[in-house]
Amino acid sequence: AATGKGNYRHFMEKELHEHPVVIGETLRQYVEPATRAVALPPLPFDPAAVPRLTVTACGSAFLAGLVGRYWIEGLARIPVEADIASELRYRDPPLAEGGAALLVSQSGETADTLAALRLLKAGGQRTLAVVNVDESSMARESDARLLTVAGPEIGVASTKAFTAQLSVLASLAIGFARARGRLAPEEEARLTAALLELPGHAAALLEDGRTIQALAQEVAPARDVLFLGRGNLYPIALEGALKLKEISYIHAEGYAAGEMKHGPIALIDPAVPVIALCPSGPLFEKTASNLQEAAARGGRVMAFTDAEGAPALRRFAERVIELPRVDPFVAPILHAIPVQLLAYHVAVLKGTDVDQPRNLAKSVTVE
Ligand code: G6P
Repeated sequence: AATGKGNYRHFMEKELHEHPVVIGETLRQYVEPATRAVALPPLPFDPAAVPRLTVTACGSAFLAGLVGRYWIEGLARIPVEADIASELRYRDPPLAEGGAALLVSQSGETADTLAALRLLKAGGQRTLAVVNVDESSMARESDARLLTVAGPEIGVASTKAFTAQLSVLASLAIGFARARGRLAPEEEARLTAALLELPGHAAALLEDGRTIQALAQEVAPARDVLFLGRGNLYPIALEGALKLKEISYIHAEGYAAGEMKHGPIALIDPAVPVIALCPSGPLFEKTASNLQEAAARGGRVMAFTDAEGAPALRRFAERVIELPRVDPFVAPILHAIPVQLLAYHVAVLKGTDVDQPRNLAKSVTVE
């Protein structure tokens, strides 16, 4: 049954193994496989004319929204503001005339996000909700909704809903870019092809469980862990840290790699694993040099990269984990999977209640 654990020890483990199917099913809603063009349902605003977007959410859904900001700004050139819902709702931000808002939520019921939706609507923004529950309050109250096809998510810490949210946001960014005349059909086909390859890559990653389990053995004894990433992988560093905190109770921080020198570098010592997201691509050299600085100070760098990035990182990193080489546009979706798996395996080693971590609720419907 959809609500059983099957042969898995935890719902979270089962849900992690659903990444390939969920990414594939979600993309099927928004990408035409034959033409490889993004096909969006009618939107409540014109992406070619919208002056500004506000993205808001809570928890992991907010981190998906942060990746969305990189994608939408980078590809479609629409200015995007991203803020957590509990801040946005009391900040009384000036809203652009004719602006629009994206709400991201698995449950569609999170109190702060729902309050932000109402505030944004009252402020004249057109609202689009990316939700996993079709009959939810956010789905009903927003001007339009885009569904993630993640199925029920039982584990309190979000997993498959996160990659499904990313899949929708990537499709949106491509659709917006095309609507604004900023994406040639060949380029669109190249990006959607990269998206459509993700289920296969995700399945391969999940099949080889040992690499991440071995990494988890190194991380489990740590008191503090630092996650570093740049660009569209910075929010995935935040997600890695959030997930580890949530379910293993190890203190973790996610940082933009370039910001490390302004603070967290003071924490670096051999007791603090530094988990780096550093695939090949335009930002590789920059991130690699930040990691080298960490290693030079005795930091134990454990890097996720690909075959092209691996040799340079092996010169100083304690562990280098090769992921499939993908277009940098889709790297956040791919990298989300091993950081979530890492948190899962660390939590199992620590014997915590993986599916029901202390003090946390699946859906926070009170303020
Ligand atoms: C809780 C969950 C998180 C989730 C957040 C937002 O804190 O533990 O995993 O990301 O709520 O939930 P939503 O349903 O709005 O995505």
